[in-house]
Amino acid sequence: MLIRKIVFIRAQTLLKKQFNFKSMSTLPKVLITRNDIPEDAILLLQSKCDVEIYGKPSPIPRDELLKRVKGKNGIFCLITEKINQEVFEAAGSTLKVVGTMSAGYDHVDLTECKKRGILVGNTPDVLTDATAELTVALLLATSRRLFEANQQVTNGGWVKCAWGPLWMCGQSLQGSTVGIIGLGRIGFGVAERLKAFKVKNIVYSGNRAKVEAMEKLNAKFVPLDELLKQSDFVVACCALTPENKVMMNKEAFKKMKKNAIFINTSRGALVNQDDLYEALTTGVIHAAGLDVLDPEPLPVDHKLTKLPNCVLLPHIGSATIETRTTMALLTAKNILAGLEGKPLLCPL
Ligand code: DGY
Repeated sequence: MLIRKIVFIRAQTLLKKQFNFKSMSTLPKVLITRNDIPEDAILLLQSKCDVEIYGKPSPIPRDELLKRVKGKNGIFCLITEKINQEVFEAAGSTLKVVGTMSAGYDHVDLTECKKRGILVGNTPDVLTDATAELTVALLLATSRRLFEANQQVTNGGWVKCAWGPLWMCGQSLQGSTVGIIGLGRIGFGVAERLKAFKVKNIVYSGNRAKVEAMEKLNAKFVPLDELLKQSDFVVACCALTPENKVMMNKEAFKKMKKNAIFINTSRGALVNQDDLYEALTTGVIHAAGLDVLDPEPLPVDHKLTKLPNCVLLPHIGSATIETRTTMALLTAKNILAGLEGKPLLCPL
């Protein structure tokens, strides 16, 4: 089945090249910004559109994007592309819809889209469970020092100390207070899962108190300062906005408990990473677990990579095959709806 799909995609591409189908086609033109997205989404778009795929499994270089977007009616993009005025100008007036295969949309200039009447769709909801799962995994990996402990097995540390009552001890979720910054879908999913770990208190901050948070989670709405002061674990799950950029800075870390652990699965730009480094190396906070960084990818020799009390992951919150396939299909459906003049499934 998979081989048939790949042969079909390749044959289409070959035909287009040989007979210059592109210029003959009256179908709407869509650019997909990389080639390693789930085939079902590619096939869906190809069934109704003239699709150009950037042929590499890596982010499209900026000049390629600007060149290829010209005359397109739709763009299928990812968080790795900045979709802004420059792109819209390169595309020209034909561009109708942008589908981003992500829940986050800080890489898309929505104000500029509105001004130009370009529709934008994203993929919320479908990645909630995968990202909440990963957040809990990162919490446990950081609090129970899983990566450090694993290294002890391979670097001879375990052989040297055999076993010790205080060796490789971490911190328990049981009986702790967890503070969630941003109790949206993912924050809620994290809180629901943490109940099973016998967390004592869940507090959250954000724009407003939520009834279901109290009813279903017994979670308390508190101001951010209070959350930072009370929590043993501070988990950032909020969307990045111009207002909360680098909100986790020196002052914020100083308000946290000395034994506190900071987790971020939202966006790297929420954090001032120099301030975090200082907080982690001077005992202001105990540890951090980050699935999102600034920049991404983080340079291999970045100072945060040197810290044993900082667990780093390469932005894999939604990385399960099922979730990524659903996200890709939803992106394709958003684009098709926009091209057909129908409401997008997930409009922004
Ligand atoms: C998103 O969708 O915004 C995630 O960060 C990437 O899957």
